[in-house]
Amino acid sequence: MDKQYIDQLIKKGRDSMKMPIEDPEYRSDQDLKLPQPILAKEAMRSESIDLPIDFENLSIENDFLRIINTRQSVRNYSEEELSLLELSYLLWCTQGVKEIRGQNYATIRTVPCGGARHQFETYMIIQNVESLEDGYYHYLPLIHKIECLSTHQDLKPFIIKALGDQAWAAKANINFFYSVVAYRCEWRYGIYAHRVALIDVGHISQNMYLAATSIHLGGCGVGYLNEAVLNEAFELDGEEEFMFYAFPVGTLDKNIKLTVKDPYDFIR
Ligand SMILES: Cc1cc2nc3c(=O)[nH]c(=O)nc-3n(C[C@H](O)[C@H](O)[C@H](O)COP(=O)(O)O)c2cc1C
Repeated sequence: MDKQYIDQLIKKGRDSMKMPIEDPEYRSDQDLKLPQPILAKEAMRSESIDLPIDFENLSIENDFLRIINTRQSVRNYSEEELSLLELSYLLWCTQGVKEIRGQNYATIRTVPCGGARHQFETYMIIQNVESLEDGYYHYLPLIHKIECLSTHQDLKPFIIKALGDQAWAAKANINFFYSVVAYRCEWRYGIYAHRVALIDVGHISQNMYLAATSIHLGGCGVGYLNEAVLNEAFELDGEEEFMFYAFPVGTLDKNIKLTVKDPYDFIR
């Protein structure tokens, strides 16, 4: 890559973070009264799996300051079995639907999202989770179920490839992957949608960090993906829907020490 091309890419990247020039004439598809896209992707398979929702049976840390304080990126996992209830809790805390507004106009979820468009889909590579076969899965947030897309043995080599050689992620019980269904937010925000979407995924990520911490699991956001490999594995077309962000979560390695720091230590 020559310097001029790199400069162009840098400019393109910066521009995608900025507000596009305001044009009073501009109308998004919602303004033009075009049909609204569906709130969440339909099931890709005919069968789905129920998830338990008796979260009161989980040992959930309820000291909020402690959760905030001990949250950290964890990349060492013990590879013990994870329960289906823990998986269900993580899914609900990050994309769970609390309400449907209007005539299927919007979902209100456990995370905020610009215009309540919720343009993300949750996929998972699951290993060693109670009662589930190892394989690729997809979350159905409107009914809080998951569907198995395909089962596989020895998923570790694929995980390492999919996360650009980040081998530590292969020990995670669940590698969560978030795709963007671009038109779901473009319908409302058009040329302004992409900046909003970048902000939105941060909320999912932070809820995942805090939810995992609250049930004594460890995880780490991963921005570096082999997008093409993941798109193919999860049957995404790479244009209308493409993989965007990953979040491995696993059982905590006993050597991990979650430190509680005095919030004022740093400024004293
Ligand atoms: C958007 C985002 C992308 C990240 N990508 C990676 C990654 O690809 N690999 C990795 O090891 N850590 C990744 N991290 C974790 C950061 O390195 C980590 O949050 C940072 O070092 C601060 O540490 P802490 O989370 O323990 O406070 C990512 C975190 C975020 C929020």
